[in-house]
Amino acid sequence: MEAKVEDRPATTVEQPAEPKEMGDAAPSALGELKMKATDVNLWYGEKQALFDVNLEIFGQSVTALIGPSGCGKSTFLRCLNRMNDVIDICKVKGDIRLDGEDIYAPEVDPVQLRARVGMVFQKPNPFPKSIYENVAYAPRLHGLCATKAQMDEVVETSLIKAGLWEEVKDRLDAPGTGLSGGQQQRLCIARAISVNPEVLLMDEPCSALDPIATATIETLMDELKENLCIAIVTHSMQQAARVSQRTAFFHLGKLVEVNDTSTIFTNPSDQRTQDYVTGRFG
Ligand SMILES: Nc1ncnc2c1ncn2[C@@H]1O[C@H](COP(=O)(O)OP(=O)(O)OP(=O)(O)O)[C@@H](O)[C@H]1O
Ligand SMILES: [Mg+2]
Repeated sequence: MEAKVEDRPATTVEQPAEPKEMGDAAPSALGELKMKATDVNLWYGEKQALFDVNLEIFGQSVTALIGPSGCGKSTFLRCLNRMNDVIDICKVKGDIRLDGEDIYAPEVDPVQLRARVGMVFQKPNPFPKSIYENVAYAPRLHGLCATKAQMDEVVETSLIKAGLWEEVKDRLDAPGTGLSGGQQQRLCIARAISVNPEVLLMDEPCSALDPIATATIETLMDELKENLCIAIVTHSMQQAARVSQRTAFFHLGKLVEVNDTSTIFTNPSDQRTQDYVTGRFG
């Protein structure tokens, strides 16, 4: 099936109205340009996993990354906060900017970068510590709170923003790992937003959750995007359609197409995108 898809011409629908190169201007209704990846190529050892990826991510909006398993979505997401640095065999080339600054520049401290570009993973992974300490961990690491009262405030605010406060305020000393899956994932979101990141990367954050917990997280994303920029990897087309304003379709390590979500789902320019969003492969 995929081999056939590959044989087709890359672009079958001409769309002269939509210029490919948008410069730094945000498409209407999106916030400012927040991150820009240019010609990103990535290798795991000898094996190339990303090919010339160019993608812009805008603030006050959610960008969904979709595509079949193994196409490089997680790999690309990890490039955006240098999580791939910790993989020895991984080599990244290209240019990735946050507010115009090269995040791979030698003077950039990846730990500081990850405070600005936070991440939430597929499987909720609270630290084996109390609920309070999970959220307090990063503000303490970055020396953000001088007093206990300030830390209490940060913990409370983060848990409120993550929609978890009411459920845990009476048991902040209980272990984070004792919460339900959906609560754990919201705890991980609280942990990620405790240092006020500008970008939140979410790699299939709901795939281990039931529909109710998923709906809670989706509502949360909608609220959070008012103050930060979100990029989410998802295998669920419905989720991408519900939560995102822009969608990027990856296939075999290449970014095939990016556009507003409604265009990607109703009138994509590439046949491979069309086949994927209509469920013909993947
Ligand atoms: N740590 C690693 N070492 C070696 N190869 C890797 C590593 N991580 C990913 N890869 C390879 O890179 C390619 C892209 O993988 P990636 O995990 O980014 O895909 P994905 O689109 O997120 O897939 P999925 O939807 O299954 O999560 C795959 O061929 C994968 O096997
Ligand atoms: Mg993945």
